Amino acid sequence: MKTKKYFVCNECGFESDKWFAKCPSCNSISSAVEFTADIDFKKNKKTSKTTSEITYLDEEVSIPVRIKTSIKEFNDSINGGFVKGGIYLISGEPGIGKSTLISQISKDIDGFVLYATGEESKTQVIQRYKRLNIENKNIGLIFENDIDSIINTISKSTKKPSVVFIDSIQTMKSDEFDSIAGSILQVRECSKKITNFAKNNDITIVLIGHVNKEGAVAGPKILEHIVDCVIQFDLEKTSGLRMVRITKNRYGPTDEIILLEMTSKGLIPIENMNEFFLNDYSNESGNTLTIIKEGNKLIPIEIQALVSKPVYGTPRRITSGVPLDRVLMISAVLSKKLKMPIESKDIFVSTSGGFKINDSAIDLAIANSLVSSLLEMPPLGPTIAIGEIGLDGKIRSVSSIEKRIEISKRLGMENILIPEKNSKKVKSCTPIKNINELVKLFKGV
Ligand code: TYD
Ligand code: MG
Repeated sequence: MKTKKYFVCNECGFESDKWFAKCPSCNSISSAVEFTADIDFKKNKKTSKTTSEITYLDEEVSIPVRIKTSIKEFNDSINGGFVKGGIYLISGEPGIGKSTLISQISKDIDGFVLYATGEESKTQVIQRYKRLNIENKNIGLIFENDIDSIINTISKSTKKPSVVFIDSIQTMKSDEFDSIAGSILQVRECSKKITNFAKNNDITIVLIGHVNKEGAVAGPKILEHIVDCVIQFDLEKTSGLRMVRITKNRYGPTDEIILLEMTSKGLIPIENMNEFFLNDYSNESGNTLTIIKEGNKLIPIEIQALVSKPVYGTPRRITSGVPLDRVLMISAVLSKKLKMPIESKDIFVSTSGGFKINDSAIDLAIANSLVSSLLEMPPLGPTIAIGEIGLDGKIRSVSSIEKRIEISKRLGMENILIPEKNSKKVKSCTPIKNINELVKLFKGV
């Protein structure tokens, strides 16, 4: 058996046969770490003659067993629960609530649950379980950051766990590698070790991973390649809500999201989004409702605009939740196409709770709010506006219009403005062709 030297970038995981001073992939300086791999030449010779088995589609295979957790919304987002033997990654910034979430979901898992942490003390973890009112004899804790020791403990345990949580993968290390915990090598090798062990033993593994400032999982894409499913935890900064998205899923679709609120009793899913976002809505000038699409969830949101005389010489444009460039574009279109005196004014636009929106179907609601505030006229009645605005002032069609209308009607809304292009099969909504038609809806214009 011979050994081969190779080098790995400790920042991004780039591999090369040759040493490098600057990583060709991420440009980091002095990040090359030497690795040795065993090469079995005899074995290589033999494998060149081996053949693989061909499988046909009519082969009977069993449907994966799902392990349900205590949070229904969480189960729904991962298509019914953790897959037995599946490898999951829950990623998010420190302090966002990852440990809280896994403590909560471990509560009603069928079978024995092991929670291995290299991050917190016994007192911290037990206190958290107490605070969350969880007393479950089927949850075992390991306070350890040596991955080999964790694997040995599980193999020797008489109780085979159905799910193992590793909090966090960045605190784990293996003495086989000469690198500190959290380095790319340790993250990669520890994840591989626990993953191989889990696949051979049909145990579900949930890795917790911290993300860096840019939002990437530390130990970059490596972890995301290893696992079957990535559950990304984001903080919605203004509303304080936690948004959980599935960004990779080998077992189902990836477009589910859940919104959770951090309370003194832990994370609570927001069941009634309508109530949460529309509680304070009233039909005053500058206010318009819309339905946005996040993942495959449709959420009603209020857009508020205030157009006022500038306080300083240069007019200000301030937004919260909506992209500033959308507001600038819409006000430029109103000014250019309709000669509305908006460009000289201060403009403020925000969403309910500052909830961040990236759906261009909010354009029509922004325009409706801007016009309403500029004219100091409330819309003719409570209004929901859905549509994207082009630079030519025409209203473009949007996706999922039927579902968006259905939700609007469920909210008891009668005044529903939609793009004319979307209105063919839809009755009882007001089709809008361009911003000219939108402005004409305001009384007296
Ligand atoms: P934590 O789950 O430790 O975050 P992470 O594991 O992602 O680093 O929790 C983060 C914050 O949540 C912490 O500041 C305390 C707060 N918290 C609550 O507000 N309510 C609770 O019930 C719990 C357990 C934590
Ligand atoms: Mg934690």
